[in-house]
Parts: sequence; structure tokens; C-alpha cells
Amino acid sequence: MLLSARRLSNVLQLTLAVLKPDAVAHPVMLEALHQRILDSNFVIVRSKDLVWRRRDSESFYAEHSGRLFYQRLVEFMSSGPMRAYVLAREDAVRHWRALMGPTKVFRARYTSPGTIRAQFGLTDTRNTTHGSDSVESAQREIRFFFPDFCAEEWMEKEEPSFRLGRIHYDLKKQIHTLSTHS
Ligand code: RTP
Ligand code: MG
Repeated sequence: MLLSARRLSNVLQLTLAVLKPDAVAHPVMLEALHQRILDSNFVIVRSKDLVWRRRDSESFYAEHSGRLFYQRLVEFMSSGPMRAYVLAREDAVRHWRALMGPTKVFRARYTSPGTIRAQFGLTDTRNTTHGSDSVESAQREIRFFFPDFCAEEWMEKEEPSFRLGRIHYDLKKQIHTLSTHS
């Protein structure tokens, strides 16, 4: 799928998106969410399936360590496979959080019925997706999930071509890659 027709003018922003264990446990839901990402004009820069150890979960959510839901969250996030994405888009952080919808599933269903959490979420903990909440969080969280990916280098070397739509969707890898013939 060539995206050259869709020329993007503003600099792309990167964000981290995670499909949580409740979503990945169901292949149909996983596929639907992957397709939703593609249909929502995000570019998939990296993708990784992984399982967290408990200490990964504790470390990632350290900022919530005093909260009542912390233990439940930590246990859930290390309970089974997840999928992490580095997504690119103009204003990616905000767009991905808007697509996810409110954290609390029942609120999401009431106020934002078209969002992912409204449609797929089960509870306030098992709420299907994670998204970075700022550009700074995105940088830190991308490093956490993708230590081999250098965002600065990607912005310098690849972002201009991605922005110009010189990319295609690799069906086998299920990510976007640079077109070699443009
Ligand atoms: P996330 O970090 O997962 O993208 O979601 P968020 O910014 O919308 O929510 P945050 O406040 O950062 O909370 C992180 C995750 O903790 C779980 N949570 N459970 N009351 C509860 O039971 C509760 N509140 C939050 C959710 O899984 C939430 O996504
Ligand atoms: Mg958060």
C-alpha cells in the first residue's frame, strides 16, 4: 500500500501504544485493533509482541506505586502477552489517546462510545490499551519497550521520507517501511 498520495506536511511525532493482555488474549480483538490503528492514519514504525516479568510491570508503573489499583495493575500487565507499537503521526500522542478514550471503561462507554476502550475494554484495569501521555513520556516509554530503537536517529534519517509518504505497509512484518523505489 503506497501512501504517496497522502502527503503529510507537519513533522511526525512518535508515541508508544500498547495492546494490553486483555486485548492480545483474543486474536480477533488483536486483529481488529491492529486494523483500527491502520485505518486511523497512524504509521506503524515498530511492533513487538512481548510478555512482562512482574518487575518490568512494577518499574513501568512506578509513578502509580502509591495508588490503590497499583498491585492489580502490576499483576494484570504481567499476566500474559502484550503488543507494543511505536506509532508515528502528526500529533501522535494526542491522537492515540483520543482514539483510546477515557481510562475508565464505563465512563468511556458513556462519554465516548466510538473509542477503543468503550468498545473493547472490560474494566478500569483491563482497559485494552496504553498510550504515552506526553512527548517526554513517549520518549521514555519507547526506550523502555524498544531499547534498540533510536528515536533521535529515526527523526533525523527516516521521518522526512515517512512524512512524504515514501513508505509502504509490509504485510509480512505488519509495519510500514521505506519504499525502496521512490
Ligand atoms: P495508560 O497509562 O494505561 O495509557 O492509561 P491512562 O494514562 O489513561 O491512565 P493512568 O492514570 O496512567 O493509569 C494507568 C493504568 O492503570 C489502570 N488503572 N486502574 N481505578 C482503577 O482501577 C484504575 N485506574 C487506572 C488502568 O489500566 C490505566 O490504564
Ligand atoms: Mg498513563
